Amino acid sequence: KKIVVLISGQGTNLQAIMDACARGVLNARVAAVISNKADAFGLQRARQAGIPTQVFVRSDYAGNAAMDLAIGDYIDAIGADLIVLAGYMKILSAQFTRRFQGQIINIHPSLLPKYPGLNTYRQALEAGEREHGTSVHFVNEEVDGGAVILQAKVPIFAGEGIADIEQRVKEQELRIYPLVIKWFIEGRLQLKQGEAYLDGQKL
Ligand code: GRF
Repeated sequence: KKIVVLISGQGTNLQAIMDACARGVLNARVAAVISNKADAFGLQRARQAGIPTQVFVRSDYAGNAAMDLAIGDYIDAIGADLIVLAGYMKILSAQFTRRFQGQIINIHPSLLPKYPGLNTYRQALEAGEREHGTSVHFVNEEVDGGAVILQAKVPIFAGEGIADIEQRVKEQELRIYPLVIKWFIEGRLQLKQGEAYLDGQKL
């Protein structure tokens, strides 16, 4: 099975996915890494692993839809089974999410439906939350709005700052994202009528 990973930055989740493939934990390969930022560090990680990279920059296109069309055509040419968003910081067009419905997953650093969008750590701290976490979900046209597949919770202790919580959440991300990808690759995970199913059971 072929996975395409979309990134904009560090690529620590990408690294965990590539490692899981290399170790045979995932019976799949990362066929390409796509970035909307030419200087994303994750691109170096991909090159290091010998994985093809492709950069799509918004300014090269007439609009978001045109750019996403090009990305979609690139992904179709590869014949990817799964599209993994791993810190891809650009909102995908509805045409794109419909084109690949049930084949796109994202990881978002909050316990969705709480705190979609940006700055989840700051929001959780300011709200006085005692716990935070991360969610892997199917992607639809709503930002961070698709069916949740798996979440991991972490505690927030008194006096902690964003960096403490972020580190704790990231540790969990590197654990749960490869696990969800494994389910998908094994054919155990589906999106049906907007709901996520694992082994035929609604999540
Ligand atoms: C992750 O924390 C993910 O939840 C969010 O963006 C971050 C990406 O980090 N969507 P990295 O590029 O995988 O290191």
